Amino acid sequence: MSVELIPAPRAVEGATGAVVPLGHGTTLWAGPGTERTERWLRATLGQALGLPLRPGPPDAPDAVRLLLDDSLAPEAYRLAAVAGRGVEIRGGGPAGVFWGAQTLRQLIGPEAFRRAPLRRDPAPGVPAQVVEDAPRFRWRGLLLDVARHFMPKEGVLRYLDLMAAHKLNVLHLHLTDDQGWRIEIERYPKLTEIASWRTRTKFGHRASPLWDGKPHGGYYTQDDIREIVAYAAERHISVVPEIDVPGHSQAAIAAYPELGNTDVVDTTALSVWDTWGISANVLAPTDTTLRFYEGVFEEVLELFPADAAEFSAFVHVGGDECRKEQWTESVTAKTRIADLGLAGEDELQSWFIGHFDAWLAARGRRLIGWDEILEGGLAPGAAVSSWRGYAGGIAAARAGHDVVMCPEQYVYLDHRQAPGEDEPVPIGFVRTLEDVYRFEPVPQGLTEAEARHVLGTQANVWTEVLEDTARVDYQAFPRLAAFAEVAWSPLPAPAERDYADFERRMTAHYRRLDALGVAYRPPTGPRPWQKRPGVPGRPIEGPPPNR
Ligand code: ACM
Repeated sequence: MSVELIPAPRAVEGATGAVVPLGHGTTLWAGPGTERTERWLRATLGQALGLPLRPGPPDAPDAVRLLLDDSLAPEAYRLAAVAGRGVEIRGGGPAGVFWGAQTLRQLIGPEAFRRAPLRRDPAPGVPAQVVEDAPRFRWRGLLLDVARHFMPKEGVLRYLDLMAAHKLNVLHLHLTDDQGWRIEIERYPKLTEIASWRTRTKFGHRASPLWDGKPHGGYYTQDDIREIVAYAAERHISVVPEIDVPGHSQAAIAAYPELGNTDVVDTTALSVWDTWGISANVLAPTDTTLRFYEGVFEEVLELFPADAAEFSAFVHVGGDECRKEQWTESVTAKTRIADLGLAGEDELQSWFIGHFDAWLAARGRRLIGWDEILEGGLAPGAAVSSWRGYAGGIAAARAGHDVVMCPEQYVYLDHRQAPGEDEPVPIGFVRTLEDVYRFEPVPQGLTEAEARHVLGTQANVWTEVLEDTARVDYQAFPRLAAFAEVAWSPLPAPAERDYADFERRMTAHYRRLDALGVAYRPPTGPRPWQKRPGVPGRPIEGPPPNR
């Protein structure tokens, strides 16, 4: 039986054509430290296949056995399906066992991705074989922009399941932007009363003449956030919250006008932004602003505990695309620059980020921000999301900072995935499934020591033109499957990657995505209802600039 796993494992051996049966008598034995995977298997495979997976002894002939094996790396696993001996998953740590369980689900077949069995009996079995596997990168991330278009909690939980199925382990939640604030902060109720919704929305790129007049909004209550974080942790996924400062803040300023540059603009007249681009309304560099955001972060730290999962100590503060015109005009900002002895507005931004870096570090947390935070110097423990190509990642790694590679030219999944007229609201470069498959996260030219600062890689799904979950699915899939393989599997250099083999395995993977109800882009192009005729995008012609 051919192995069609995605992401591809390191090694598969001993496939004999035999099948290890699963049935009502199949028992589940879970060794110490494997409880999360035990719960997940019983809930997920139990539901899909109609199997009780009752607890049983480890030596039952058709048992599923889970155990830790400290001879393996923390996220590594070894799955052995042997006729007459059942299925054994050993993980170097609890996460390794969980990734092994994801492989088991794929081995069983697409039916294992449904929520009820298609037939009474028998359940599909597991092809006998041994899979040995371990990830290439520790940080295998997905950014969801829930600020531009809100994704209700159910959608986020579903995306956590989709991430787990692809062995992705960091959800970067972009919670705040000019167009919306999505997290309840109890001490600042207007962030949810006012900043969480807008009266209308630009439909298409900002040059589009179209508007959607339906009010848009939503936010996660604090209990929703706790649920999301716990649901993720059950799946060994870290949720990294982003509160974007000092730019991308118009929604917050609309709710609390004192946060803006009140000596330059009448911030009481601002509303949550209804169109796209980079707003000039940025935070004022005042003590009022610093104290306000310390209050926000105090609640954020409580909602996102540092020990939930591997990267949960990280808090993302944005720091990207902060327009400086208002600071240039503002007497308050100019006075601050003079008082601090700074060279200008750029250093003011660096001072602002530095304040929160120290504040977070004092609380045992780590700051991460977009690569603009490198400008003006950065504290040693801070990490960088390199989005403007590879340069930020190279500079960060050379300066000794950890870095997550998410260059917009390769892994911004809002960018269109084919040329031509059919792609809905086409944005950016053409980035096909194959382009993503040939993405190399580690920048060229780093020494081995510098390259060790590359924590991993992340695909970013910005949602200006993705108005609902179906549109998010369309942009994310199938490319997120290729991205997952880049993040997990030990692929050769981009030109040497066997894309034909990946495509062959994708044939099986589409059946899994179908069973999961993912509205992916079919290889032949969008289905009629996936098109958006007449809604202008902003395609960029030609290949992306060289890295
Ligand atoms: C970004 O795309 N502004 C991080």
